[in-house]
Amino acid sequence: MNLHKSVLRKIGTAAVLLFLAACASTKKESRMIADFNPDWNFKLGDHPTAIQADFDANDWRTLDLPHDWSIEGIFSKDYPTKPKQGALPAGIGWYRKSFTLPESAKNKSIAIEFDGVFCNSEVWINGHYLGKRPFGYISFSYDLTKYLHFGNQKNHIAVKVDNDAQPSSRWYTGSGIYRNVRLVTTNKLHVAHWGTVLTTPKVSAEKATVDYTVSIQNDSDLQKEFKVVTDILDANNRSVARLEATEQIGANAILEKGQKFEIKNPKLWDTKNPNLYKVVTKIYEKSTLVDDYETPLGFRYFAFDAEKGFSLNGVPMKIYGVCLHHDNGALGAVANYHAIKRKLTIMKEMGVNAIRMAHNPPSIEMLQLCDEMGFIVQDEVFDVWKKKKVTHDYNKYWDEWYKRDLEDFIKRDRNHPSVMMWSIGNEIREQFDSTGISITKELAQIVKSLDKTRPVTSALTENVPEKNFIYQSGALDLLGFNYKHTDYGTFPERFKGQKIIASESVSALQTRGHYDMPTDSIRMWPKKYGEDFDGNADWTVTAFDNIASFWGTTHEENWKAAKKYDFIAGTFVWTGFDYIGEPDPYPYPARSSYFGIVDLAGLPKDVYYMYQSEWSEKDVLHLLPHWNWKAGQLIDVWAYYNNADEVELFLNGKSLGSKAKQGDELHIAWKVPFEAGTLKAVSRKAGKVVKETEIHTAGEAAKIDLKSDKTSIKNDGYDLAYVTVSLQDKDGNSLPKADNLINFKVSGGAKIVGVDNGYQASLEPFKADYRKLYNGKCIVILQSNKKAENITLEATTAGNISVGTVSIKVE
Ligand code: GAL
Repeated sequence: MNLHKSVLRKIGTAAVLLFLAACASTKKESRMIADFNPDWNFKLGDHPTAIQADFDANDWRTLDLPHDWSIEGIFSKDYPTKPKQGALPAGIGWYRKSFTLPESAKNKSIAIEFDGVFCNSEVWINGHYLGKRPFGYISFSYDLTKYLHFGNQKNHIAVKVDNDAQPSSRWYTGSGIYRNVRLVTTNKLHVAHWGTVLTTPKVSAEKATVDYTVSIQNDSDLQKEFKVVTDILDANNRSVARLEATEQIGANAILEKGQKFEIKNPKLWDTKNPNLYKVVTKIYEKSTLVDDYETPLGFRYFAFDAEKGFSLNGVPMKIYGVCLHHDNGALGAVANYHAIKRKLTIMKEMGVNAIRMAHNPPSIEMLQLCDEMGFIVQDEVFDVWKKKKVTHDYNKYWDEWYKRDLEDFIKRDRNHPSVMMWSIGNEIREQFDSTGISITKELAQIVKSLDKTRPVTSALTENVPEKNFIYQSGALDLLGFNYKHTDYGTFPERFKGQKIIASESVSALQTRGHYDMPTDSIRMWPKKYGEDFDGNADWTVTAFDNIASFWGTTHEENWKAAKKYDFIAGTFVWTGFDYIGEPDPYPYPARSSYFGIVDLAGLPKDVYYMYQSEWSEKDVLHLLPHWNWKAGQLIDVWAYYNNADEVELFLNGKSLGSKAKQGDELHIAWKVPFEAGTLKAVSRKAGKVVKETEIHTAGEAAKIDLKSDKTSIKNDGYDLAYVTVSLQDKDGNSLPKADNLINFKVSGGAKIVGVDNGYQASLEPFKADYRKLYNGKCIVILQSNKKAENITLEATTAGNISVGTVSIKVE
């Protein structure tokens, strides 16, 4: 993987030119990776003449990528996307960018890399057609070299994005060039695109081996002699192993060079200590450095066992996983490093150690962060094969594209230490008929031809062995089952000797901060497919964990089942975060999902703390619901806790008794007649206090409280700060049901790029400088606007409520 994040962020388009000029004069130039995101022109609709070099796009909108035009739209139930895809517009859009290159770049090879365009992208350079990529989640690159102009003559790149045929997905996809774009300039002799493959055949605490192959490409008409020097660098950039060789390469040829390394006492990668190394290859012609290429490396070994489940570096562990879709809430599909890092940080704090990329290739940044933060990844490529799920999904392109897309997916991702499973498909229709056998065999064989070190899996729904043709193929190394928690006990008998993981589970429904009582029973909703709407009039679902779709179950019931059987390697909960689209089972205006443990704005629902109490090492004591009710109303009070023998509850200083979880229970509960004041819980172990938690009845709103997740951001046009907004009474207690409209004003080095409150049926736009609080909270997302000025965000609302402000430094 050849993304240099720091380089990418530092270098703007203008700088590309300066850099190229400087390189030429020193004659020491090697690889140059330029951020190609800034300064594009964009226009909705179809503009076929925009491919012409002399087309004038000056009246088009100017914007910086990554960009998703769907998220900028207003909600409507009438779009062909329907609420299933977020009730936001899709359609066709065109992008254009003009740039010049210095004469000195004439002898270079220049390629453009797109990390993801949704969808059906077609690209032209100076009027020449470069190609089409229908799959909206695949990364691809085009060699521009032979079509470019140098010196004063401008180059024009045009990209058509066609997401018009709808429905194209079962969830919100976004539309546009929604991931990063780079311009990669190399010498004629260079490492090929995705040109390294590394495996670590032997790993132990004492010794590790690395098998490394680098593909060196010669784009010139001359035969060349060169030296290839590869170093393995530790986290402090110290070389721990080096190999050199001198090679010859023919004109216009590719040469694969294998190198084997041995490293003593490697620091192993695991989910708590994600120690990383990197492999750096330098290519020299005579003594001139002509290329410099970096590949991430982590030393770890893992196994799935049919009886004992999963182990990492020889240590048995359960996979505490969540499924995540690719959208970043109010930012839409835009792949922003900082948004993804926040998402993963919230998951890490909860105790999550694994992510399933549901159900498509993720962004490069997502995998980089999983490497760096210590998440095990189930990397998934398809949601459909030949048989469709919706009218215009990937099945239309299957025959022509599946091989290329699958190969590119593996080639891009196979060096990431975090990736430990390849999923060739989610709930694929072909599992139900015999065509499933041959397709599975072929896909598994394609994967194996590119990587033999990770198991091939698929997320299945049919658990009667004779009826499941993907299973019948015998080509899966690991069986993934979606839901089926009630059948786990029968799996060893049904699937003798097979390794098994719960690839998807739960699908419980919740709205943050909304509580319905009593909570004595679990309700399945819907009870069957197509059941009529019978939810709450305000499209909410209680945040007590007792409502789930009939194919799933509550978080607690699922976790009890997964925990009980060692042979279940782990579980991937559907989902870590709410996502746009799939608001099942509610109709419009509901337009985003209820399945998340965390809402769309990134604010945890209460069940987050159940997982934290089970999956993390933190001391947890969490009370729900809030404490603003009618006098005398009987309130169900739940507590999630760990690391303690009992929890004592106090209402306004009076003990209501101690309780402890019994058997496999995951929470304790009381029924408490409401009385305003303070509800306090104290957890104790062997008589000693472990933790205390209080919730308070809030009075009249007095002020707006703003909390930023960062005290400073970088002045780079990309960095984000997420500010959480709430209303407090004069004593600082948050009002749990506040729904005031808050207006925002930002000054200095940031702009507002999104607002949200997590309410699944809110029809307020995500791009605005106002938002209503929902159940007491909302968020504002600020992004660096490249001005080197400290930021002040001011929040105001009607009535006698003090203004909220927060300051953020710009570095
Ligand atoms: C699963 C499916 C997911 C999502 C989920 C909702 O069957 O794999 O993509 O639709 O249901 O419960």
